[in-house]
Amino acid sequence: MPFPMHRPRRLRRNELIRSMVRETALSPADFIYPLFVCPGKGVKKEIRSMPGVFQMSVDEIVRECREVARLGIPAIILFGIPEAKDEIGSHASMEQGVVQQAIRAIKRAKINLIVITDVCLCEYTSHGHCGVIENGDVANDPTVKLLADEALSHVQAGADIVAPSDMMDGRVRAIREILDENDFSNVPILSYAAKYCSGFYGPFREAAESAPKFGDRRSYQMDPANRIEAMKEVLNDIEEGADIVMVKPALPYLDIIREVRNAVNVPVAAYNVSGEYSMVKAAVSKRWLDERRVVLELLTSIKRAGADLILTYFAKDAAKWLKEK
Ligand code: PBG
Repeated sequence: MPFPMHRPRRLRRNELIRSMVRETALSPADFIYPLFVCPGKGVKKEIRSMPGVFQMSVDEIVRECREVARLGIPAIILFGIPEAKDEIGSHASMEQGVVQQAIRAIKRAKINLIVITDVCLCEYTSHGHCGVIENGDVANDPTVKLLADEALSHVQAGADIVAPSDMMDGRVRAIREILDENDFSNVPILSYAAKYCSGFYGPFREAAESAPKFGDRRSYQMDPANRIEAMKEVLNDIEEGADIVMVKPALPYLDIIREVRNAVNVPVAAYNVSGEYSMVKAAVSKRWLDERRVVLELLTSIKRAGADLILTYFAKDAAKWLKEK
């Protein structure tokens, strides 16, 4: 054999041949776009640490949803910033809560979008933790009951999928049970199954006004050092009835996404979180990175790692760029 035996560059000579052997194709159909609903009318307030991301009142959310659907993005996930907070996050499951109102408005407008809701208490509690506090820590079982009520109220308002993000033990089963008992056995659960206790949620906590007032979330979210435990969480959630499982954050946990994708037979989602977004935006604003290029590269990497669905604040821009291509 003449030297060199292998010339992989043969398949990289021009765009047409590269496109023939490309292994991963990103599409707007892969994206889920996060939205923050707040009280009021005509409110569209930019989040300081997340340029291009806004807290929006229900009317603005509906307008935004039309654009999201037009871009070919199939789903949004709603987070609520309630009128008022208390110890047990009672606004989370109110019929007139912001999220419930937003769901009804989107459905009334007949927008062709899957409406996913984030099910958690941290945006609704005065202390900012993801559940009720007993003896200085989040009490698991009483919290699970409240989360089930919250999920049911979202579905009663018209939510298509519920996504618990609290990391309490047993919440997927409790949500599945309450939905089934109320004739919503056809509504899927997307569980934040392997959710790490991450510094990359910083900007989100400004967006959702949900930073814990004392301590941190280490007693319920996962230790970033753990891989085997992620598999336990994921398999456990599937056993409890999760239809889709999520790994979160995405970029520092691509190894976990791959491992989960190899191990399960349900769709895998990954959350490209607020800090991952802000980091890129900050570097781009200093002209240190080319935004379009790095964003498409990052999202492609998350998909290549094994994510079938990507929750990302870049969804709208990426969908536009993919259409231009
Ligand atoms: C609520 C929740 C968080 C995120 C999604 N749902 C924050 C947290 O756990 O503190 C983070 C999303 C992001 O950073 O973009 N529990």
